[in-house]
Amino acid sequence: MNQSALFTIFGGTGDLAKRKLYPSLFRLYRKGNLKDHFAVIGTARRPWSDEHYREIVQETIKDLHPSPAEAEEFSSHFYYLSHNVNDTNHYDELRELTERLDEQYQLANNRVYYLAMAPQFFGTIVQHLQSQGILTEEGFNRLVIEKPFGFDYDSANELNRQIRAVFPEKDIFRIDHYLGKEMIQNIAVVRFANNIFESMWNNRYIDNIQITFSESLGVEDRGGYYENSGALKDMVQNHILQVVSLLAMEVPVSFSDESIRLEKVKALKAIRRYTTEEVTENFVRGQYDAGKLDTTEFIPYRKEPNVAEDSATETFVAGKFLIDNFRWSGVPFYIRTGKRMTEKGTRINIVFKQVPVNVFHFDNEDVSPELSHNVLTIYIQPTEGFSLTLNGKQIGQGFNPEPVKLDFRQSAEVTENSPEAYEKLLLDALRGDGTNFSHWDEVANSWEIVDCIKKTWDQITPDFPNYAAGTMGPKASFDLLNKNGHDWIWTPDNWYRERGKLD
Ligand code: BG6
Repeated sequence: MNQSALFTIFGGTGDLAKRKLYPSLFRLYRKGNLKDHFAVIGTARRPWSDEHYREIVQETIKDLHPSPAEAEEFSSHFYYLSHNVNDTNHYDELRELTERLDEQYQLANNRVYYLAMAPQFFGTIVQHLQSQGILTEEGFNRLVIEKPFGFDYDSANELNRQIRAVFPEKDIFRIDHYLGKEMIQNIAVVRFANNIFESMWNNRYIDNIQITFSESLGVEDRGGYYENSGALKDMVQNHILQVVSLLAMEVPVSFSDESIRLEKVKALKAIRRYTTEEVTENFVRGQYDAGKLDTTEFIPYRKEPNVAEDSATETFVAGKFLIDNFRWSGVPFYIRTGKRMTEKGTRINIVFKQVPVNVFHFDNEDVSPELSHNVLTIYIQPTEGFSLTLNGKQIGQGFNPEPVKLDFRQSAEVTENSPEAYEKLLLDALRGDGTNFSHWDEVANSWEIVDCIKKTWDQITPDFPNYAAGTMGPKASFDLLNKNGHDWIWTPDNWYRERGKLD
């Protein structure tokens, strides 16, 4: 498909545009999804010229090794407009440039507005797009919005009200970049295209589910943002609850964005809204202290730039969600995420129940062999694939069971060459396919769930810091599972401990 469209990027000089958007547009261009009939307007406050903007765009695609002619031709589609989002006159200039480029590149009035800047400006921008006549009657007008979408339910609701006054829901594409990741998209296929899993995907066969989003990086230079966010809002409200809904939803009647959303929203609605007592019992938070992993030493979160010395911001969350419906009643969905953990890794462990009786429990032996749980692991990143742990017989005399693992991982080459999340999401937005974006009903339910937790936490001063950088989080996260007789399946910290590289 070769789609005609004009992209207007608000925040065109920003980090996201440079790191993700321009390289993704280039990949689409290279593949022929964008060809002659596309143009990009980058806007921001700085007074750049088109020439300077194009040089920057070329710089951002250097790693993709375009030929000089290719880089030149691609960047010639980019135009820069110095723009103050609060100044109405600037939108008139934007309209003139929009109309000129529409004609020059024959864009059929198809327009994508990408808001890659601070959310407090979203409302003003969309109002002006309407009042200054930039939206078209013909072609399409689509709005792509980056997170954070609000900072709690009320602010998100207000933001949504402002946006929906101008754009209908079907034209709003709220980005959650995890939904563009290959293995997140694969969850639906694993579930709905394999009878062995589909038939067992419920509380009769599944014991618990564990979702880990661990990061080895600290807060880096984002202290200013992170201090007001914390891990709960930064990762759980969006990415993690999206994954929970994909794992928990019912089979959609068809694989259309509408049917999938309907089921995801039903799943989110069924997640229990916790009382204060339930939050204390089911959620733990942490903040990293100094630490040492192998030969690398880390400073505490409170010493990071733009972080308060007595910061109460959590850099780690672990928790147990309960889903009160027929399929999931009684199955804990454990989640954990944090900064400065042992390794960067996103994975899901589906832990199946044991067989009803262990017939390998031999009376005449002192120690009876333990049966391992069957575990389906979905590896989201950095490696992509699945594994299934089964019990097999130990070679030799007797019938001692031992765990064996069927393991499939995509090759590094395939992973490397698969489309980047932003590339896929941009193409989806261009095609008008909302499957991999967050619908307002999903966002609203996620905020409700997270607000309950945050409200309780705000009433109690946490005892921070409480985990050493380089570890898998505070002790309370392990206790949370232990009290239900469970353990975290993924323990990369043990590998380091066994080798004396971590205390
Ligand atoms: C972002 C968070 O949404 O996701 C960051 O704001 C986090 O704090 C990032 O580091 C993780 O994304 P990825 O794709 O690197 O796993």
